[in-house]
Amino acid sequence: MRDQPFFFRCINQSCRREFEISQKLYQCPVCSDLLDILIEHPTMDVVELKKTFHQRRASNDPLDLSGVWRYREFLPFLKEDLTHVVTLGEGNSPVVEAPRSAEYIGLSRLRVKHLGWNPTGSFKDYGMTVAVTQARKLGSRVVACASTGNTSASMAAFCARANLRAVVFIPEGQIAFGKLSQALDYGARTLQIQGNFDAAMGLVQELSQESELYLMNSINPFRLEGQKTVMIELFDQLNWKIPDRIVVPGGNLGNSSSYGKVLMELKELGFIDKVPRITIIQASGADPLYRTLVTSSRELVPVSDAWTLASAIKIGRPISWKKAVRALDFTDGWCDVVSEGEIADAKAMLGRDGIGCEPASATTVAGLRKLMTLSRSSESEVSVDPDEDVVAILTGHQLKDPEYTINYHLDNLYEHAVYENLLVEKWGKLNSTFANQPIVVPPDKKEIIRLLEL
Ligand code: F0G
Repeated sequence: MRDQPFFFRCINQSCRREFEISQKLYQCPVCSDLLDILIEHPTMDVVELKKTFHQRRASNDPLDLSGVWRYREFLPFLKEDLTHVVTLGEGNSPVVEAPRSAEYIGLSRLRVKHLGWNPTGSFKDYGMTVAVTQARKLGSRVVACASTGNTSASMAAFCARANLRAVVFIPEGQIAFGKLSQALDYGARTLQIQGNFDAAMGLVQELSQESELYLMNSINPFRLEGQKTVMIELFDQLNWKIPDRIVVPGGNLGNSSSYGKVLMELKELGFIDKVPRITIIQASGADPLYRTLVTSSRELVPVSDAWTLASAIKIGRPISWKKAVRALDFTDGWCDVVSEGEIADAKAMLGRDGIGCEPASATTVAGLRKLMTLSRSSESEVSVDPDEDVVAILTGHQLKDPEYTINYHLDNLYEHAVYENLLVEKWGKLNSTFANQPIVVPPDKKEIIRLLEL
């Protein structure tokens, strides 16, 4: 008999061993594969619970105000644990129409769910509130993560709130300044590793096995449990009219993994009949999942020198890749890649919709545009209907990386890339199709009137 209705289970079909949730585990101690958290749900009245979720949006209870804890029936915590919740009012990210981007793609309608409009400006807050709550429950004193910037910003904030020591491992000189500034502001001990993200990740994983560091990357299943609520919140916002397709950027593959898991749960419990197709888009210079899928490899095909100006997804060895493959299998999904130029122009197009985002988030619009073009060719396997109901997941706030945006509008991205020492020869010239250059003018009214053709 288990103590709690939650437990870890190894995802490996030939292992499937189960472990107590109270252990500090990230991978299966027997076969080293990834772990899921399984929740033995009591019989649920689906209609009632959907109604409850909706009603909680009008409540002022801090748990109901959180777009994560509002859906607590799907989280691995007992009622008595909820007094320890570490929350910053996360979630509640809106679903917004993006008509210009839709036209740019060739869709009749596009909606985006903007997870960048969270307390620390990225989707990480959905998972971090849950992982930091678990860290506190386990009595951890010091927690750590490797990060391309957003995980560290989020972890630092929730740890500050929970009075936990936070240590972040970031690749030196490879994260956007907005993100670095957050980790420093929230008081995290910040280690700039002289290596790339994958090196930092390997290091912190080993240290968490060998010391008391509690690991907060998405290999920690509690992170993914929190990120699951993105889908529940989205469906709640759409009155449970389930979209045909969900498009998401692919980096360390935590998002896609968590969406796959919750879609399985929602389907099994009868919350949804239909499953949206998860579509993962990677940058062409950091495309290990894509390479794995196109070569039908049973092992990850890593990218040793991952490169992209979308620094959030500059990852060559994503830890959650098996769960992402499972998500694609379950949802009949798709994975594709986009170039640096495609990402940059798609980001500018979202900007024209009044929707700012990080470069990594714009892979979604770039990817959709590419898939629409491919769909028109008779040889292509992929088919996106112009009337499909599509939701793109935007993962990070525009102001995380203003330097990228400025360089784009100054038509300077190419030089920016050279400066960053990226493999620019692969791209050729990077043009900013929608550049909006600032204009220098003398303080002269007549001149300004002439210039503005007023
Ligand atoms: N978009 C943004 C803005 C991100 O920060 C990340 C990942 C991703 C997309 C990719 O998401 O890993 O779930 O596939 N950032 C991590 C970090 C790796 O350390 O902040 P994923």
